[in-house]
Amino acid sequence: MDKQTVTAPNLLASALQTLSNRQKALDPKWFYDHRGSELFEDITKLPEYYPTRTETAILSTHARRIAANITDGAVLIELGSGASVKTRLLLDAAPQLATYAPVDISAQFLQGVAAQLQTDYLSLEVTPIVADFMSPISLPAHLLDRDLIVFFPGSTIGNLTSDAAIGLLRSVRDLGRVRAMVVGADLAKDATVLVDAYDDATGTTAAFNKNLLYRLNREAGANFDVEKFHHEARWNEDLSRIEMHLVSRTTQIVDLGGCSFHFKEGESIHTENSHKYTRNSLSELAEAGGWYVTDWLTDPQDLFSVSVLVPH
Ligand code: TRP
Repeated sequence: MDKQTVTAPNLLASALQTLSNRQKALDPKWFYDHRGSELFEDITKLPEYYPTRTETAILSTHARRIAANITDGAVLIELGSGASVKTRLLLDAAPQLATYAPVDISAQFLQGVAAQLQTDYLSLEVTPIVADFMSPISLPAHLLDRDLIVFFPGSTIGNLTSDAAIGLLRSVRDLGRVRAMVVGADLAKDATVLVDAYDDATGTTAAFNKNLLYRLNREAGANFDVEKFHHEARWNEDLSRIEMHLVSRTTQIVDLGGCSFHFKEGESIHTENSHKYTRNSLSELAEAGGWYVTDWLTDPQDLFSVSVLVPH
């Protein structure tokens, strides 16, 4: 399958639209081509990027407690599964699971990960689903009448606006017989710690952010001079979120799809939000999406949370 020809027209249309906003922007789902998925795996191992190791520690400490929500023969669906590293903790603790259905937008990356998982978990049925989890997900027919557990780790929920998060929570609830949703969410904390997590010393997060521009050049015929942009992570206190931007170093014009985009010096393209929660703000979000929090798990320093939600 040639993913490039499948996604390129959408990438172009999406970029033309969001680059025309007053605050220029790009949809973060375009981060995840194969290269972007690899760069993201590198980010998860950075010393500054505490979320992955903290969430992993919470999941390994509480794996059995979380697994107690999983019924015999249930299906574990993961939204934005990436390398499925943390998932293994749940798979190991829940041998009663019959099926694992990872959902990811990065087709080639997903196929590789799913094949390896199938080799490592021979008695589990691994059913990868190539999809953007923000669009309605259609489950394979044989999974429709089964108990479902939805795993949404990595504080991916925080990359959505609250309206989009509420929409997603509602559509997950309506997916079928969903027994529980296990959600990882990063917590509000000191701004320096947060900014460093999104602007590391090795420049890996910068490379991840700039990969968007390289991708537009490769797949949508844009002519970004990538080094004329720099990566910036900003803490937006009012909205309790880290914002990632690509900031133009100079006045410049970029061509894309027959349109010219003018940049002033210091003008940015907003590429990502990462909302940071409190126990209250997360539980309000869950309620608005039709769920309530039955279990709230954190690390000793309260850096990160894993909650178990059940539908109302
Ligand atoms: N959801 C994670 C977070 O917000 C992962 C992530 C998304 C991320 N985009 C990112 C991490 C950009 C670093 C940089 O932290």
